[in-house]
Amino acid sequence: MANRKLKNAELDRKSISEFKEAEKTPITVILDNVRSLNNIGSVFRTADAFLIKKIYLCGITAQPPHKDIQKTALGATDTVDWEYVEDTTALVKSLQNKGLKVYSVEQAEGAVMLDDFQPERGEELAVVFGNEVKGVQQEVVTASDGVIEIPQLGSKHSLNISVSTGVVLWDLFAKLKKG
Ligand SMILES: C[S@@+](CC[C@H](N)C(=O)[O-])C[C@H]1O[C@@H](n2cnc3c(N)ncnc32)[C@H](O)[C@@H]1O
Repeated sequence: MANRKLKNAELDRKSISEFKEAEKTPITVILDNVRSLNNIGSVFRTADAFLIKKIYLCGITAQPPHKDIQKTALGATDTVDWEYVEDTTALVKSLQNKGLKVYSVEQAEGAVMLDDFQPERGEELAVVFGNEVKGVQQEVVTASDGVIEIPQLGSKHSLNISVSTGVVLWDLFAKLKKG
C-alpha cells in the first residue's frame, strides 16, 4: 500500500501563540560568531521543530529581522525566543551560575562522542556551536562543562554548522524524550 503524503494542513503545527505557551525542551542554543545568515536562519527553523527554549546570538552573529535569515528560518524567528549577547564566554559563565550545564559542540581533545553522551535527568543544557571557519572560540570551549563531538567517518573535516545543530538537537531531544 502506498503511503499518501500529508498536506501541510494535516500536519497540525502550532500557531505562534501556541508555540509561545507550549512547554519547551530544556535546551538552550548558543551561536558563537556564526557568519552566514542562511546558517542562522536554519538553526532557528530546527530550534522551532524541537521546541528549543532559547537561542543566544553572540559576537558577530547577526540578528533578525534580516531577509537572508528569513529565507531559511521561514518565520521561526517569530516563535523561538532569542537574545543578542556580545561576549560568549561571559554568557556561558552566567548560564552556569544559573545552574545550566554548558557543552561546546566541537572537535576537541577529550570530547564525548554524541552517541555516548547521555543528558542527566532534570539537567538544563546549553549547547554552543561555532563559526564556519574558526569553530567555537578556545576560551568558550575551556569555560564549558564539556565538549560533544559528532563522529564523522568520511573524508571531510567537519559538518556545516546548521547541519550539526540539526544532528545534535534531534539526538538530545530524542534522548530527553525517552527519559
Ligand atoms: C564548519 S565547523 C568549523 C570547523 C572549523 N575548522 C573548526 O576549527 O572548528 C562549524 C561548527 O559546526 C560544528 N561542527 C561541525 N562538525 C562537527 C563535528 N564533527 N563535531 C562537533 N561539532 C561540529 C561546531 O560547532 C563548529 O564550530
